Amino acid sequence: MSKLVVTGGHRLIGRIRVGGRKNSAVAILPATLLADGPSIVESVPDIQDVSVYCEILRHLGAKVTHFPVRDSEAPRVMIDPRGLAQGTPPESLAGKLRASYYLLGVLLARYGQAEVPFPGGCDFVTRPIDQHVKGFTALGATVKVEDGIVKARAPGRLVGAHVYLDVVSVGATINIMLAATLADGVTVIENAAKEPHVVDLANYLNAAGAQVKGAGTDIIRITGVTRLEGATHALIPDEIEAATYMIAAAATDGDITVENVIPKHLESVSAKLAETGAEVEDNGDYIRVKGNGRPRPVAIKTLPYPGFPTDAQEQITAMLTVASGTSLVTETIWESRFKHVDELKRMGAQITVDGRMAVVEGVTRLTGASVKATDLRAGAALTIAGLMAEGETEILDIEHIERGYERPVEKLSSVGAKLRKIP
Ligand code: EPU
Repeated sequence: MSKLVVTGGHRLIGRIRVGGRKNSAVAILPATLLADGPSIVESVPDIQDVSVYCEILRHLGAKVTHFPVRDSEAPRVMIDPRGLAQGTPPESLAGKLRASYYLLGVLLARYGQAEVPFPGGCDFVTRPIDQHVKGFTALGATVKVEDGIVKARAPGRLVGAHVYLDVVSVGATINIMLAATLADGVTVIENAAKEPHVVDLANYLNAAGAQVKGAGTDIIRITGVTRLEGATHALIPDEIEAATYMIAAAATDGDITVENVIPKHLESVSAKLAETGAEVEDNGDYIRVKGNGRPRPVAIKTLPYPGFPTDAQEQITAMLTVASGTSLVTETIWESRFKHVDELKRMGAQITVDGRMAVVEGVTRLTGASVKATDLRAGAALTIAGLMAEGETEILDIEHIERGYERPVEKLSSVGAKLRKIP
């Protein structure tokens, strides 16, 4: 495990370009296995979750080629599934990321059976998959978990069905879409997730020959087809990477222009930062955030898209530790996502957690301490806290950060942050 040493107290000023969306990449990379021919995925972020997924695809028999990146180009990956053999991804890889469960939908659609080790990923809370199972079952599969492996089997081709999700689940929406793409007949997903990466996946699938309608609304209709061609598809930008740097700008009283964003996807974050007193300028292709001294306290409630994203909650909580009053942070997506709070308290933050709510009493400053990145976004939150704090902060277990952030040390250093990675 490596650590990050951050020297706080420097305003971040400059430009940062965000990469392709992690949560699109980890859905579209496995989706390419549904096709009979090769696909090219563009703007693939250079993060550990993508490397692990590419390893899994290779293990299953697909040919994965990374194109060399030239200055002006985003990274591209070609996946050729023609050598695909029915197999099980190894636990050592599948256990590293949550999104390995998308292979259930994909392999079930292709082979009528799938065995995937129970998914890993951020371990901030118990993460059930009952809604995925409900969807697969409706499509005709039987699903059981044995010895830590999820085993799904269908007697033949999956059959389209009506699925009403009991909770709005991004993962279940995506997994059922993947399975239904090659099913016989029409599948309707009601109470579907509306996140932009659900739309991104639908756009890839449709480009490859699928018939998916309604992605981005809460009813998605998939008419099954017998085969998909490959397609070339560019991932949408990562709105959580963008949100993290926007918050870092406001938190350090800095001035950062975040490039390669879709501002519409960031409206809830932009609006909340403006409420804290930051100046937020949306210019179509980029968003500029200028800090304005000590942030004002605000109330945050995480919600499914287009509400405030849970994946930016930990970062904005870090910023609110130094607000000029008391902020309330309510987490409605995950039953508890407050592991970062104990670490922030080591730095002098005053936070009380009661169930799904954190009461953050602003202090005048944080002080550097030794803290632990317990998960991906907690790591991002502690980095922001370290950038605001007086003195040096040592963040342990930063592999969590590298799972989902592309070259964070390089990007932050380019805007004046003082931080170094120590392997
Ligand atoms: N849920 C169920 N049953 C299910 C599935 C979900 O009860 O079968 C519940 C969960 O417990 C949670 C809520 O539904 O309370 C939402 O979970 P969802 O399924 O939407 O989450 P996910 O698909 O597992 C994705 C992202 C997460 C992000 C959530 C919410 C990926 C790989 N992960 O997870 O991203 O927090 O959606 O937006 O797409 C991150 O990037 O840091 C991250 C954790």
